Amino acid sequence: MDNNTSENKKTVLSLVQASGTPTLGNYLGAFKNWKEMARDNDCIFGVADLHAITVRSKPADLRRRSVEMYAMLLALGLDPEKNIVFMQSHVQEHALLGWVLNCYTQFGEASRMTQFKDKSARHADNVNVGLFTYPILMAADILLYQADMVPVGDDQKQHLEITRDIAARFNSIYGDVFKLPEPYIGKHGAKILSLQEPEKKMSKSDPNVKAFISLTDSTDTVVKKIKSAVTDSEARVYYAEGKAGINNLMTIYSCCTGKDFAEIEREFDGKGYGDFKAAVAEAVAEELRPLREEYEHILTDKQYIEKCAAEGAEKASAIARRTMRKVMKKVGFYQL
Ligand code: TRP
Repeated sequence: MDNNTSENKKTVLSLVQASGTPTLGNYLGAFKNWKEMARDNDCIFGVADLHAITVRSKPADLRRRSVEMYAMLLALGLDPEKNIVFMQSHVQEHALLGWVLNCYTQFGEASRMTQFKDKSARHADNVNVGLFTYPILMAADILLYQADMVPVGDDQKQHLEITRDIAARFNSIYGDVFKLPEPYIGKHGAKILSLQEPEKKMSKSDPNVKAFISLTDSTDTVVKKIKSAVTDSEARVYYAEGKAGINNLMTIYSCCTGKDFAEIEREFDGKGYGDFKAAVAEAVAEELRPLREEYEHILTDKQYIEKCAAEGAEKASAIARRTMRKVMKKVGFYQL
C-alpha cells in the first residue's frame, strides 16, 4: 500500500485455504506468526476460497468452511479496522490478474511445481486445469497487493519463487509494475508433525483423528490426544535424531511456552514422559482455549462477520483495482 512508505511499514500478505478446521500445526506454523506480524505491519489476510474449488465440494460446505475460516482469522485477534481480512472471491481482480499472469507463465515452469505433482497423484479422478494453474492464481493474490513479505510454510516456498519469477518477467517487459515479494519464515515457522506418525506433517485430513489437534478441540480432547501421542521407549526428554515423537512434542511445547529446547530438557530432567506429556497438554490447552472461545463467540454473530467481510472486500478491492488498472494499461487493453 502506497501510503505506508512514510512509516516504513511492510505489507504482509497471506491467504489460507478453507479446507476444514485448521489444526495446531496451522496455528503454530502460520497463524501465531500472523498475529505477531499484524502488530507492526500492514497486514492483508484472506480466505483462499477461489483456490478451494480446485477440489470438488458441496456448495453449502464450501460456504460454511469459508465463513468458519474467516471467523477463525478474526478470532486470532487480527484487528479488521487496522488490517485487511477478506475473502478472495469478493475481489474479482484475483481471477482477472490470474488470467493475465497465465499468459506470462510457461507451461514447463508450471509443470515443475511439486505440489501439483503430489496433488494430481492424490486426486487422480479430478486433475483439473485449475489445480495446474493454482500457483499462478496465488501469484496474482500476492502481486495485486504489492506485498513485501509473504509468510509461508515450506510447502509454499516453490510457489513464492514462481511468483517472483513471473513478476520479474512481467517487469522486464513493461517496467516496474510489481513488487517482488520476500518469503517470511517466522520464528514459530516450525513444522508440526502428526502425533501418531511423527514422520508425517500434522494434517486435518488424517483419517486417524488422534493424529492431529483441531483448533476447535475441547480441552479434554487436547489432553487425551497429547497423552496418546507416539513417543519412544527411552523415557528421557531430550531432542535428538531418531526421537521424532518427542522432538515434535518438544517443538509444540516450545512454541506454546517460548522455552527453548535446552530449557525444556532441564525442566524435565529426571522426569518421565508422563509428566512431560501432561505439561505439553496443559500448555496447548491454555494456548488454544481463548482462541476457541473467541471463535465460537464470533461464529454466533453472523452480522459482525458480514460487516467485517464487506469492509475487508472494500479495502482489498481498492488496492487490487489500482494494480489491475496499471496492468491493463501496460499490457495494452483498450481502456474506457
Ligand atoms: N496456497 C496456499 C496454501 O495452500 C494458500 C494461498 C493462496 C496463499 N494464495 C496465497 C498463501 C497467497 C500465501 C499467499 O497454503
